[in-house]
Formats: sequence, C-alpha cells, structure tokens
Amino acid sequence: MKKPWSGRFKGATARSVEAFTESVSFDARLAPYDIQGSIAHARMLGQQGIIRKSEAGAIIKGLKEIASEVGSGKFKFKEALEDVHMNIESALIKKIGPVGGKLHTARSRNDQVALDLRLYLRDEVAQTISLVRSLQKSLLKQAEKHLGLIMPGYTHLQRAQPVLLSHHLLAYVEMLERDVARLQDAQKRINVLPLGSGALAGTSLPIDRKAVARELGFDSVALNSMDAVSDRDFALETVFALALVMTHLSRLGEEIVLWASEEFSFISLPDAYATGSSIMPQKKNPDIAELVRGKAGRAIGNLMALLAIMKGLPLAYNRDLQEDKPPVFDSVDTAKASLSVIAEMMSKVRFNKSRMYEAAAKGFSTATDVAEYLVRKGMPFREAHEVTGRIVAFCLKKEKELHGLSISQFRLHSKLFRKDVLGCLSAEDSIGSRDSEGGTSFKQVRKQIARHKRRLSR
Ligand code: ARG
Repeated sequence: MKKPWSGRFKGATARSVEAFTESVSFDARLAPYDIQGSIAHARMLGQQGIIRKSEAGAIIKGLKEIASEVGSGKFKFKEALEDVHMNIESALIKKIGPVGGKLHTARSRNDQVALDLRLYLRDEVAQTISLVRSLQKSLLKQAEKHLGLIMPGYTHLQRAQPVLLSHHLLAYVEMLERDVARLQDAQKRINVLPLGSGALAGTSLPIDRKAVARELGFDSVALNSMDAVSDRDFALETVFALALVMTHLSRLGEEIVLWASEEFSFISLPDAYATGSSIMPQKKNPDIAELVRGKAGRAIGNLMALLAIMKGLPLAYNRDLQEDKPPVFDSVDTAKASLSVIAEMMSKVRFNKSRMYEAAAKGFSTATDVAEYLVRKGMPFREAHEVTGRIVAFCLKKEKELHGLSISQFRLHSKLFRKDVLGCLSAEDSIGSRDSEGGTSFKQVRKQIARHKRRLSR
C-alpha cells in the first residue's frame, strides 16, 4: 500500500515493520477527535485563503461523511496506513480526490496527534468528573440514610474510637472532592491548542491559530511550537489524578472486603454485586471491591509507564510518544469503569447495625473519653493517659469493659472520678462529645452532609 510519505522511498516497508510501527489498532478511537480537529483546520485554511473556500467546503463535507462511517462502524481502518491520521486522510483523498491532499497543509501529524489527545482527554476528564460526582452522591445518600449508625473507628486496624458510619463514608467524599479538583486543574492545561506548531518549528503559511482555538473551544494556543509537539504533561497529570482516584477507590475496596468478611460482618453485599466460587458452594465473594483494588495497580503502572516514556526524550517529537496512548486510554477506561460500578455497589450495600455497634462498644474504645474526663477535672493529659491505661489493664484482669466498672472501681485509680464519669463511657456519649470542627458528633456530621448536599446539587 502506498504511504503518504512514500516520495523519498524506493522500496516497500517490511510487513514486520508495518505491524511493529502501527498505532491504528489502538489510536482508531481518536478518529472523532481527529476529524473534529481537521474540520476546524480546513475551515481556517479556507478563511485564510491558503486553500480555496470551495476546497475547504469539499474537505469538510468529505470529513463529515467519514465521521458518520466511523460512527456507524463502517469505516475500515488499515494497519498498512499506520495510524488514525493517515487512515482518515487517505480515505478523504479516496472520497473527494486530490483536493483532499490539501487538508494536511500547514500541519504535521506531530501537532495533529497532540491535538487529538487533548480533545480526547478534555471529553474523558469531563465524563470522569461526573462519575466521581455520582459516586460522591451515592456515598452521601448512604451517609444521610444511616446517620446514627455507630461503628468502631480504627487506627492500625485496631479499634480506636467510636465514629458514625456516616463520618467514615464522608471521608471518602472528601478524598473524591480533591480528586475532582485535581482533574479540574488538569483540564486547564489540557485545554490549550497545539495545532499550528507544524512538525516542530511552526509554518511559513499564514495560518490563524486563534480562529482554530476558538472553533474548538480551547482557552488559548500553545506558545512554543517545540514544546507543543513534544509535551505530554497534560496527559501525565491526568493519569496521575486518575491513579489517585483509583488509589482512593482501592482503599474503599479494601474496607468493603474487610467489612464483608465473616470476621467483621459489618456489611452484606446484594447478590447482584458479589460472585461465587466454582468449588466452594458456600462462598459469596466481594470480587468487585477486589478487582477495583487490583486495577488500582494498573493505574499506578500506567503512570510509571508514561513517566518512563517521557524521561529521556530530546526535543521535539519522537516516535516513543506513540507509546503514550495505551497507558492513557487504559487509565481512563479503568477509572471510569471502576467509578461507576463502585457507585452502584455502594448504593446497594446493606449495613449491619448491631454488629457495628457491638464492635464499637467493646474493646475500650472510649478510653480516650475517660482520659479527657480527667483532663476536664484538672489532671494533666499525660497523667490522665497513664491512669486510664491502668484502668484498662484493671478491666483486662477482671474481664470487664469500661462501662462495666462501678464508680468505686474508678475511684481506686483516681479520686477525681465522680459519678458523672459513668456518663461518658458509652459509644453514643463518646460520639456526642466529639464536637470539634470536623469531628464525628452528630452535629458536625450533619454539617458535613449539608455542605456536600449543597455542593453536589449545584
Ligand atoms: N502515530 C503517531 C503518534 O501516535 C502520530 C505522529 C507520527 N509522527 C511522526 N513523525 N511519525 O505519535
């Protein structure tokens, strides 16, 4: 097959080389963006008198036809034409004749592919943000519905202090909020037009880059042509933001796995969101959560791959850059799929109120409250910690919980204890007292819910 660059070549490309160098098997998905960019480019060429208006019209008409063939799946991409760009250009020439060959005036595949990737990411990042929002809404709904449900909060995976389940779920809403902010920040740098940079040095033809930027909805044009064709920062930071989204989902996944275990039994998953074992008939496994946790590894790997691809590249374009697409696409696909399935699952999880409460009430999780009681009575915290530690040891010896001690047993350890200490020993008491800003008290958690609701309804 004749290549668009065949002029200086005498021999044909080896089959193995075609197979090795092609990218159309994965960059074909950029076709709609490639065509969108080409239409804007052709219109600008016509407006600037670089080609005739009628020629631009014919090119645009042909490109629109190709777009609908791509949309309906009729378009046949050919490996021998290397990439999405050359496939579309040669289909255009086939369709409208040699005038189609004017489309690539004042353009290179180097600025073209940078443009395509930016248009693609602009779309995908916007979609990803709305999927993050949906997950936030699903967590928020559960937090609202189950306000009042008490569970143990953990450090080192050891029971630490009682918290509201809502507080725990809203922690993820916060993480996801920062993820949104990071993605939005990346959007600013994605939305810059590289087209018009040519291969690397700009062009001698009188193009109008601002017109193209306007038509394509870019905020600005890239101001250094060498940077514009070789920069992939925008993709890198997006892939980083996605890796962090996946890291957050993975932590949630890990908790789902734990909570669904017989040992915890804090939640049960609806049948639709669990899978079974091919050998052990009793099993109901949290595979979604596990897969999300596993896929986070892929997302992190993609980030490392892209950093490694970039780190040794001299200016400007190098073919290595073609290797940017598989990790970028994979990160986008992985994050989107994970976000939507986790959002679905989280809206259907059933929480086991009594199991959670039981666990929160046991294990001396209100020991800090006892220490803070002594602090309120004037004892230095360090001393209060020590005294309370001795009370816990006493409980362990007597096989009792803190709320099982009598007031005289408390007073064995400090004369500062009065009857009112018995009012700070339950999980409810503990939660009620944690009213510092951002704490787990009902009042604080209600405030969080209201804030997120306001934000998410905008
Ligand atoms: N398929 C190439 C890529 O993805 C397009 C740019 C090719 N440019 C070149 N000078 N060979 O990077």
